[in-house]
Amino acid sequence: MTNPASPDHAEPWYLLGAGNMGLLAAHYLQRAGFTVIVLRRDDTPTLERTLILPSGDPVLLQLLCEPLVGAGPAREREQSSRQDARDLSKDAINNASGIPPAGAAGLSRAGPAPTNPAPAAGAPIRRLVVACKAPFTVDALAGLPLAADATVLRLQNGLGSLDGLLPDGARMIEVVSASAVKRDGDAHRVVAENDTWMGESAAGGPPAWFGALSAHWPKLHWPDDFRHRQWRKLVGNAVINPLTGLHDVANGRIFQDPALAGEAEQLAREADRVFTALDPTWPGDSLPGVRALAEATAGNTSSMRADMQAGAVTEIDAINGWLLRQAEALDIDLPAHRRIVAAVKARHP
Ligand SMILES: NC(=O)c1ccc[n+]([C@@H]2O[C@H](COP(=O)([O-])OP(=O)(O)OC[C@H]3O[C@@H](n4cnc5c(N)ncnc54)[C@H](OP(=O)(O)O)[C@@H]3O)[C@@H](O)[C@H]2O)c1
Repeated sequence: MTNPASPDHAEPWYLLGAGNMGLLAAHYLQRAGFTVIVLRRDDTPTLERTLILPSGDPVLLQLLCEPLVGAGPAREREQSSRQDARDLSKDAINNASGIPPAGAAGLSRAGPAPTNPAPAAGAPIRRLVVACKAPFTVDALAGLPLAADATVLRLQNGLGSLDGLLPDGARMIEVVSASAVKRDGDAHRVVAENDTWMGESAAGGPPAWFGALSAHWPKLHWPDDFRHRQWRKLVGNAVINPLTGLHDVANGRIFQDPALAGEAEQLAREADRVFTALDPTWPGDSLPGVRALAEATAGNTSSMRADMQAGAVTEIDAINGWLLRQAEALDIDLPAHRRIVAAVKARHP
């Protein structure tokens, strides 16, 4: 059983992006006994959010917040609002485990009792989860006082959004999740709790905290072939997202429409060329996996389609744009990806 008082639990996890996926990660971290502190653009001291689990059970997440005010003195000026948050954390609202206050009818308890104090004011951030949408990453991280040896979990689709943004000594761990969480009114509904893989570019085993977390995060793995899993996810996103967004169709439509299926095939083949150039052991067989994914999620609206319907900025730069940047460095032309990135940006610059 997890021991929330263990030295590994003393360091809180800061969360940048308390949206769908960020809240899911916060829920699992709290269940594992870790303190989660949301970095917010306002000075709200605490955040309450409802996460509806696949079972239909609602969980009330209660999270401490700190304002995103950048590094050094500016952050320290915010000490008083953080002190308010810490005072709250000593009371009924949890500071470590998402425990609803007594009498939160209908809401399940979210984890073991809190034991950890919040961190010292102005202390550098040593653990960070980045779960904002990729295009907002640069702004979100600007001035954030990250410790030189910070551990950063990148819980975002696409690749490369943190390139050049972290201290040299930081440990960046990528998170690839096949789970799905959507807004449902004021709540966040976990519509699928599937496999999640963590890994990093350097070979090696998982960090010490991974064991405690994986005991509470269903289907969380640290696979040896992480990079290939990450690329499989990327190619699925690179084919399904822009096609469904541009043509405003559900995922399943792609392989029912011969013209879209042809585009999908081209996009998948071009992605395979890049992956094979980067890693000759890549099997080069993306299309069947993309097709299976589109068919398994046939009725779903992809996140890019949803963003385009809402007139919001898309993650195309982190998905197809990443492939184009790799291809350019490798002197490979990807005409289908070039066209589709231009088409998406023409609609939503
Ligand atoms: N949802 C899924 O099922 C799913 C599955 C796999 C991967 N992903 C990936 O996970 C990432 C997050 O997606 P999501 O669905 O969780 O998005 P989301 O629900 O829109 O959440 C993003 C959160 O980031 C916050 N944010 C934006 N800019 C910020 C800033 N500058 N500083 C601090 N917070 C900021 C937003 O705050 P406000 O609400 O205040 O704007 C929002 O709460 C994306 O890369 C997505 O592709 C999502």
